[in-house]
Amino acid sequence: MPRTLLFELSESIARVTVDRPEKLNALNGAVIAELGDAVTRIETDAAVRGVIVTGSGQKAFVAGADIAELAAQTPMEGKARSALGQQVFRRLERCGKPVIAAVNGFALGGGCELAMACHIRIAAEHAKFGQPEVKLGIGPGYGGTARLPRLVGKGRALELLLTGGMIDAAEAYRIGLVNRVVPADRLLPEAEALLQSILENGPLAIRACLEAVDAGLETSLDQALLLEANHFGLLSATQDMQEGTKAFLEKRKPLFKGT
Ligand code: COA
Repeated sequence: MPRTLLFELSESIARVTVDRPEKLNALNGAVIAELGDAVTRIETDAAVRGVIVTGSGQKAFVAGADIAELAAQTPMEGKARSALGQQVFRRLERCGKPVIAAVNGFALGGGCELAMACHIRIAAEHAKFGQPEVKLGIGPGYGGTARLPRLVGKGRALELLLTGGMIDAAEAYRIGLVNRVVPADRLLPEAEALLQSILENGPLAIRACLEAVDAGLETSLDQALLLEANHFGLLSATQDMQEGTKAFLEKRKPLFKGT
């Protein structure tokens, strides 16, 4: 099977690039399978401390699920395709390491959903976002109806989901779908700089923040506060917490080891 994903590791950052530029990086079964393997490596390889997800070429981040594959699917195959993609994206979202989407063009359907499964999104000025599935007579399958309203609110999410329309990067920034918009040639440098600034902090504390926000948004305020207090207590047992507080008092930079 041809390779459809690049995995490059440099300075603790894994760059994961969907690599089907001739099909605008559409997510076929091979991409989802390779993305699943990439997530396993991200979860288990201690050399990976943060992740950037992007697409090959200048035109598209990911232009959606592969419509040629969707066109031939039976109902049960459709359900299985959706469940598998959802599981891979959810594992990425819960990998415990910061993941930034560098959105370098069209992020439509599964592309918008992949970007939303990342923790932070940076868009190139020419990027476009949308959930156009209804135009094909189908709905989102990789988390669009669940994550979009959580990110931008119910009304804005429903407008995008029901019209299937596209918005540009400026509008995506205005509604809170992306964190930043930058010129295309600054996209990867900005994503790397942001990730490096995150990686200067205590890795266990970062993991706890990711987990607390992920779980805390899906539970009651009291449960979320309890989880936070538990993390706060647990982190107090780490060498990183000793080092971080000591370094502050000694007016030097901390040296975190993730222990
Ligand atoms: N699945 C499969 N192939 C796709 C695709 C997708 N989601 N998106 C683009 N492609 C393919 C096109 O079929 C075309 O292939 P071809 O050259 O073999 O004909 C190639 O990528 C280039 O796309 P093209 O449509 O010619 O580019 P464009 O600049 O005219 O339009 C888009 C760009 C993004 C507006 C258009 O490709 C599009 O609407 N794509 C589908 C988006 C979508 O509905 N996604 C949700 C899927 S659930």
